[in-house]
Amino acid sequence: MKNTERLAVETTGNNMGSYEETYQSFDWSQVEKAFTWSQTGKVNAAYEAIDRHAESGKQDRIALMYSDPNRNETYTFKEMKEKSNQFGNVLRRIGIKKGDRVFIFMPRTPELYFSFLGTIKIGAIVGPLFEAFMEVAVKDRLENSEAVALVTTPALLERVPVDELPHLKHIIIVGTPEETPEGYYNFAEEMQKSSTELEIEWVNREDPMLMHYTSGSTGKPKGVLHVHNAMIQHYQTGKWVLDLQDGDIYWCTADPGWVTGTSYGIFAPWLNGVTNVIRGGRFNPDDWYQTLAKNKVTVWYSAPTSFRMLMAAGDEVVKKYDLSSVRHILSVGEPLNPEVVRWGKQVYGKRIHDTWWMTETGGILIANYPQMEIKPGSMGRPFPGVQAAIIDDEGNELPPYHMGNLAIKTPWPSMMRQIWKNPEKYQEYFRIPGWYISGDSAYKDEDGYFWFEGRLDDVINTSGERVGPFEVESKLVEHPAVAEAGVIGKPDPVRGQIIKAFVALRAGYHASDELKEEIRMFVKTGLAAHAAPREIEFKDKLPKTRSGKIMRRVLKAWELGLPTGDLSTMED
Ligand code: PRX
Repeated sequence: MKNTERLAVETTGNNMGSYEETYQSFDWSQVEKAFTWSQTGKVNAAYEAIDRHAESGKQDRIALMYSDPNRNETYTFKEMKEKSNQFGNVLRRIGIKKGDRVFIFMPRTPELYFSFLGTIKIGAIVGPLFEAFMEVAVKDRLENSEAVALVTTPALLERVPVDELPHLKHIIIVGTPEETPEGYYNFAEEMQKSSTELEIEWVNREDPMLMHYTSGSTGKPKGVLHVHNAMIQHYQTGKWVLDLQDGDIYWCTADPGWVTGTSYGIFAPWLNGVTNVIRGGRFNPDDWYQTLAKNKVTVWYSAPTSFRMLMAAGDEVVKKYDLSSVRHILSVGEPLNPEVVRWGKQVYGKRIHDTWWMTETGGILIANYPQMEIKPGSMGRPFPGVQAAIIDDEGNELPPYHMGNLAIKTPWPSMMRQIWKNPEKYQEYFRIPGWYISGDSAYKDEDGYFWFEGRLDDVINTSGERVGPFEVESKLVEHPAVAEAGVIGKPDPVRGQIIKAFVALRAGYHASDELKEEIRMFVKTGLAAHAAPREIEFKDKLPKTRSGKIMRRVLKAWELGLPTGDLSTMED
């Protein structure tokens, strides 16, 4: 298990100094004085991200650099301040109050960002939903959060079962007035009517700000709640991990429907006052390299699946673009293969810095830093102010090279504060006193580098997107041909894992490729494209416990040709 390969430091990074020394001396309270609220005791993270810069000499700096196949727009910090103020006023006029849930279900466009910031500015809780979600997924999330307002587009509105959502009172349409149904608000018209001055809602640092739904191994998706205080972590990890410096042009490829797209697609860059590149549209190697080259991106944060797809696209395509502006590259979301790190070094001339964290942690906890040697395949070392450890199920710390629970000493600034309306679920993460249990298994080496091993539950990570098998299984059994379904993650060289479903058919239905495709499309159009099984295998019967629970562990063993282990709880 010992790994001797090292990638040497390339740049020292201007920000952090020596990792060891900083780790020893740092404590989170040092960050507070960076912000206005250290003087007033009251805070608003959107103010700190945008208005603070607009009011301190950076008003004309470009905050948002947006492009998609049809639009090319830039907005300065001053313009971002005004647009988000206008949106805050729209919500106030409608009657939205502090603590109300306002959800945003739309593709990445500037309006998404104005809405996101404006919602936070009035103290409401923002919930961004990934645009690929279909009806059931949208309904589950809006229902559980009891969202009172939704910002969406005419096309996506079709997937919102408005009549079944009694709490949802207000819908704001980003589209033309003609496309805006009677009784709904038109985004542009409402913005037009609204002042660019807003009285910000000053809140306490522990007041709620943001919700992301995420999957566990059982049950429906869970609403992970974050508070304004998370900005402390977003800001400081932005400085020391993303190495953000004055004048940087930063591109995070994640959608705000996922936590990376908010913590590091909104807060970290803007809290640090740098230019944030946002690109709409789908993945395509040429477009991606062009985005880096055309915008002269200096810091680039993406995910292993994307790097693997870029690697598959070949080295020749890289040579067509001038990527010399890129200074720092980072990755998150799934294991970053050593060969991808080596390839990145070879074709980009840069190291790819892996980072580890989760929706629940709100911000980066373990990372590779510019001034630290990289051991390809390792997630790196804990962020200053963060204590990470490998512990057994009783809470004992394990020595180097012993696999166990990857756990974090509580608390840290961006830690989730609630699972929405589900305190029991929240408590499960903290079942060992003093620790947050991540659900990942990992080990630590003698230098304190952490190495990811796998999930300890059935959560699937496909292309860096977290999918709960239960959600997929629930959708599958709604199909008339499906009697039972069990869903697992199957290892895949590009996507990390793909979703594989084992399906037992109802009497009268016969296995065929057409039926497989039909079932796959049923999930794709009913739940979400990324949640649709890429592989379906029909079985006469699925392995179940006596209480009727599908044994995914056994399905996995079948798939991988491994021993099935203890079957004493299996039904006859
Ligand atoms: O299993 C770990 C994996 O992604 C999970 C968290 O997923 P999510 O909440 O969607 O957040 C992803 C982006 C913050 C973790 O429990 N994961 C995340 N980063 C890494 C990783 N696995 C291996 N290496 C990583 N660097």
